[in-house]
Amino acid sequence: MAEDLKIITATDKAEQYRSLIPQIEALITGETDQVANLANIAAALKEQFKWFWVGFYLVKEGELVLGPFQGPVACTRIQKGKGVCGASWAQKQTLIVPDVDAFPGHIACATASRSEIVLPLFQGDEVIGVLDVDSEHLAHFDEVDAKYLKEIINLLHG
Ligand code: SME
Repeated sequence: MAEDLKIITATDKAEQYRSLIPQIEALITGETDQVANLANIAAALKEQFKWFWVGFYLVKEGELVLGPFQGPVACTRIQKGKGVCGASWAQKQTLIVPDVDAFPGHIACATASRSEIVLPLFQGDEVIGVLDVDSEHLAHFDEVDAKYLKEIINLLHG
């Protein structure tokens, strides 16, 4: 396919996700390289939603290491259980944080970040990384984001 993304300007974010997901599927289908696929997913999400930061941390030798992302430079390593990313890994759960200042142990890679959503990436039962999205607005993420972002990361297994 052509590597141009069709960006829609709908205000309904579910609609935006529904337009984006088949395009992401087309981008990553047939490509087996994980870094290439994670890089394109981060870029596609950034283009559609213009979030402050979106990217992946990958589990390497017992810690999360910065992977493909879009946005300002970020912390490179996060320990299990630390910050929102490390907590999502330890708890094997999606975490939606409406106000990062109210999250004990939040790691502020950038002071502009006010709210965050983190989803674990699984291989079988094991967490192999996380998808982290940051917004400069409070309470920017909800269950709609959790549902569609999960659909997107599930495409990685396809
Ligand atoms: N805020 C995250 C750290 C990663 S950056 O936001 C890119 C955390 O608390 O885990």
